[in-house]
Amino acid sequence: MQNLFLYSDKLHSFIRELNIPSKQQTIYLEECHREIIVVRDDLIHPVISGNKWRKLNYHLQHFSAHTYHGISSMGGCFSNHLHALAFTCHQLGIPCTLFIYGWNGEWNSQTLIDCKNWNAELIPITRNSASEFRQSGIKKLQETHPMYYWIPEGGGGLTGEKGIKELTDELPQGFDTDNNLLVCACGTGTTIQGILNSTSYCKVSTMKIVKMAHYPWELNNRIQWITTAQAHSFAKKDPNLMEFIHAFEEKYDILLDPVYTAPLMRNLIGQTNLDSYQNIYFIHTGGLQSNRMN
Ligand SMILES: Cc1ncc(COP(=O)(O)O)c(C=O)c1O
Repeated sequence: MQNLFLYSDKLHSFIRELNIPSKQQTIYLEECHREIIVVRDDLIHPVISGNKWRKLNYHLQHFSAHTYHGISSMGGCFSNHLHALAFTCHQLGIPCTLFIYGWNGEWNSQTLIDCKNWNAELIPITRNSASEFRQSGIKKLQETHPMYYWIPEGGGGLTGEKGIKELTDELPQGFDTDNNLLVCACGTGTTIQGILNSTSYCKVSTMKIVKMAHYPWELNNRIQWITTAQAHSFAKKDPNLMEFIHAFEEKYDILLDPVYTAPLMRNLIGQTNLDSYQNIYFIHTGGLQSNRMN
């Protein structure tokens, strides 16, 4: 019973401090002569922002309603999800173990330094064991960390998707029509899946950050792929993109991140069919700590 008493009060106080519902900011994109509405989920919290909060919300609720001993998850050296999770566990006093792939246990990204400072236990794993974890994370975890709650990579799974409904519930009544467009970045695909689950008619536009990735919702007829996507490295900063980020922030007072939201916004601006939509909602999924990539 310890978690029930220990964590649920702390979680509720933590939630009360978040900036929810998110502000919706209308901007006029001079580059393509039209207005869009930016859903400022990035402002939910300075560390656990955007879809990181939306996806973790129900995982944390589940954890606090059961008698687990800690939380564990997996990701790469720059994972926004792991960063948000380690921070939240630190705030709530939850033991946190993170399995990191593509990491030799020596060199540290700023993301991993923060996670360590928030007392997360970091365990390097090979890319091969990462695939095993993807298939059976809980089983593997039980070998070394019994009674830990496993959150799939990126905060995914049905529990992660469930939190996205709160995002779409905050949009204006009547937004869900087939002449409106929701634009959202995608990595594991959980956020887009959550949007598709919680809407029925609006079109959903995204681009592939990971070119080889495949998603169960790929052929959904509401998905509009932004096709001009350039493959880019998660770890390297592209100077043109950084220039775009700075110019965008100066003009609209909105900071985008170099991995997800900036490439998406830059490519959205280049689309020629935007006039066919009445309203365009751009979901700012946060993740701004990747601006500090080293
Ligand atoms: C800032 C940002 N945007 C978008 C995504 C992609 O979200 P998902 O993994 O749910 O597709 C992520 C990864 O969680 C992210 O950190």
